[in-house]
Amino acid sequence: MSIMIFSQRKDVRPWLKALQDARPDLDVRVYPDKRDNSEVTFALAWNHPMGAFRDFPNIKCIASMGAGADHVLKDPELPQDAVVTRIVDENLTHDMGTFTLALALSHLRGLTGYKVHERSHVWWPQRYKRPADVTVGVMGLGVLGAHVAQTLRLNGFTVNGWATAARPLDGVRTFAGAEALPDFLAQADILICLLPLTPSTANILNKETFAKLPQGAYVINVARGEHLVDEDLVEMLDNGHLAGASLDVFRQEPLPAAHPFWSHPRIDITPHIASTTEPASVVGQILANYDRLQRNEALHHVVSRQKGY
Ligand code: GLV
Repeated sequence: MSIMIFSQRKDVRPWLKALQDARPDLDVRVYPDKRDNSEVTFALAWNHPMGAFRDFPNIKCIASMGAGADHVLKDPELPQDAVVTRIVDENLTHDMGTFTLALALSHLRGLTGYKVHERSHVWWPQRYKRPADVTVGVMGLGVLGAHVAQTLRLNGFTVNGWATAARPLDGVRTFAGAEALPDFLAQADILICLLPLTPSTANILNKETFAKLPQGAYVINVARGEHLVDEDLVEMLDNGHLAGASLDVFRQEPLPAAHPFWSHPRIDITPHIASTTEPASVVGQILANYDRLQRNEALHHVVSRQKGY
């Protein structure tokens, strides 16, 4: 009974340490590993090499090392009977709330513009809006989206939410399904994407979507790069319909040095740090699932393969 970490981009050392600190006798391996693959029953995965699970006949659970599991589910050779789980963690949720709040406030107060003028020693006071002056539209009302909606609401923003299925939320007007999307978009001065990545949400941040936002809207994508059609964002910024965008996620990460987003004056870029899983904070839930698996009990935070989240 071993756990194996499958990750192409994460530094796995803090994960190994957190697992070993919590459970010193546990056999934890890092892919690739020359020992007997049949001993591995539990996988921890973050952007694993596609097809890697093929050689592990006894994997019963594949645990995403983050909130999203799209990177696991997209593997065409995912073992049929393995349960896929994801992380639900208070720190991760809280961090997403404070990060999106910081971006929304920074946009209202024009902080990026002051940084640019500071470099040329230009004193450039501008008028600003307050949270009560704008409506934020949150796309995706899962654990993270619902928390972001409440964080912004409690900081004075009017908040609307949109999801594929109806979802009541305290103090937040919610819209459900494709038919309600235009109405939701028409009111979103700041649009925040927190949707899971599925075939029906891929490319949802496109020209048609942006055109339905109010003139001068601001777009924040903290979900997945594949939600956004890159060229459409640039076009809608350049034609003046959108005021700006903050992007934390990209189709290719790290964002290639030659990508036009880097030099666009109205795109702010962060390197996928909106909310980062802290190994020490989540090994408890991972080991709880590992133990549940040994006892044949139902696992927590299971992802629906059919829904994709
Ligand atoms: C980050 O993108 C995550 O899925 O946790």
